Amino acid sequence: MISPYSNSRLWRVVLVFAMFIISNGRTLNSNYPKIRAVNLGGWLVTEGWMKPSLFDTIPNNDLLDGAALQLKSMTSGKYLSAEHGGGSIIVANRTFGKSWETFKLWRINGTSFHIRVFNKRFLGLDSNGVRLVAYSTDSELTSGIFEIIKKSTNSSLVRIKAPNGLFVQAKSEELVTADSKGDGQWGDTDPSVFNMSITEVFHGEYQVTNGLGALRASKIMKNHWKKFIVEKDFDFIATSGLNGMRIPVGWWTARDPTPPKPYVGGSLHYLDKAFMWAKKRNLKVILDLHCAPGSQNGYEHSSTRDGSLEWGQTEETIQETLRVIEFFTSRYAKNPSFYAVGLINEPRAPGVTLSALAKYYKAGYKIVRKHAPNAFVILSTRLDGDPKEIFPIATGMKGVVIDVHYYNQFSPIFSSMNSQQNIDFIKTNRSSELQAMTTSNGPLTFVGEWVAEWEVKGASKEDYMRYAKTQQEVFGLASFGWAYWSLKNVNNHWSMEWMIKNGYIKL
Ligand SMILES: *[C@@H]1O[C@H](CO)[C@@H](O)[C@H](O)[C@H]1NC(C)=O
Repeated sequence: MISPYSNSRLWRVVLVFAMFIISNGRTLNSNYPKIRAVNLGGWLVTEGWMKPSLFDTIPNNDLLDGAALQLKSMTSGKYLSAEHGGGSIIVANRTFGKSWETFKLWRINGTSFHIRVFNKRFLGLDSNGVRLVAYSTDSELTSGIFEIIKKSTNSSLVRIKAPNGLFVQAKSEELVTADSKGDGQWGDTDPSVFNMSITEVFHGEYQVTNGLGALRASKIMKNHWKKFIVEKDFDFIATSGLNGMRIPVGWWTARDPTPPKPYVGGSLHYLDKAFMWAKKRNLKVILDLHCAPGSQNGYEHSSTRDGSLEWGQTEETIQETLRVIEFFTSRYAKNPSFYAVGLINEPRAPGVTLSALAKYYKAGYKIVRKHAPNAFVILSTRLDGDPKEIFPIATGMKGVVIDVHYYNQFSPIFSSMNSQQNIDFIKTNRSSELQAMTTSNGPLTFVGEWVAEWEVKGASKEDYMRYAKTQQEVFGLASFGWAYWSLKNVNNHWSMEWMIKNGYIKL
């Protein structure tokens, strides 16, 4: 009698299984080169501060999506305010402009907007069509479209035309109505004149594409993708002593060629090219999901529309993100340069809860493993969270990496430090943080973003060189490696290309 598994067949199964364990094991021991990488920031995900010229041709480019306005009545000197933060009338009785006095733009074109108040309601008119209220929770259906008309291009004086065709006026502190002809002088006797100040702006992918409008956005973004990073840059990376790159991408790239508005198609083609160029030069690619649907941190670099953080607050945002990870992983799994996937960049506490993140990380890990058994899975720590809180989530996962970002900026503790104090901070604080996180059988550690820039004014080249060198040494202790932010940037110290070419960074 012949058993269903003949001897030779059984051996084949055993052999394949053994090879699987060996190949799987290869990524799991520590016998691989550490990553010394550079981020390709500002390429497939727009960050205006890295290349401001992208916004140059947008009409009224101070009135982009998310721009936060405060409007002070010229007659009374009081600010417009959404009573109770929204869900009620608009009043004009506040001496100081704070959160309830802040109005955020949802841009339709250079002069027409939906306007959102503190608690996310939209501005509109009451049932009589006269009084200003903020009831609507829906931008498209029930909220009004308002026009902002400046006195002149560079003036802060504005009039606001309401959906009924008349102009908003602050008649008294409690009565704000849309019933002015708006044809008086631009002085302080006309209650339809407001002094507008802009307290916050965003320059991300949403703002640039929506600001340019579909046709021009398509042309300008394609031109940017084509020229900002080119194949020659990969030669530079390969010959500079780097061995890889981290590529920030947005969720909409997975919906190419027809991403939802205002995003424009075509970015996937350049991501494909990057993988091809990397493969030719044996460079490793870390794919980094920098923008998740709804925004995971409310910053422009996650493509927020108006500063809201909505990722993880509905199941749908998590499920959609998992589909994005599956799309990218299955697309590049066979490319030998495909080294790691960062599941989500810089989720921010408390908006992104640890439980939503844990759920997503566990499901995301499984999806990556399904397609790419050997790729590393990178779990970003939460901004304003404790880095160690991620460790329990990673229990039982293989080939996982904890990603931390170390900037000696964006916190008051750095504002008074001199160069030596910054360097000491790296040597002492950062190195002990890293050591505490790096354990022999826990997840690997990765400093996925750092830069040789600080708050110090007038530092010498030698100071910068020592600072960069110290960071390389300390972040070199991270068990997975590090990545500089970024390859190109109009701000020289933030451009690794400039720093290497000008002798500030030696590898
Ligand atoms: C508008 O407000 C700004 C500061 O908030 C002030 O500097 C400016 O003088 C004001 N403009 C007018 C015309 O009052």
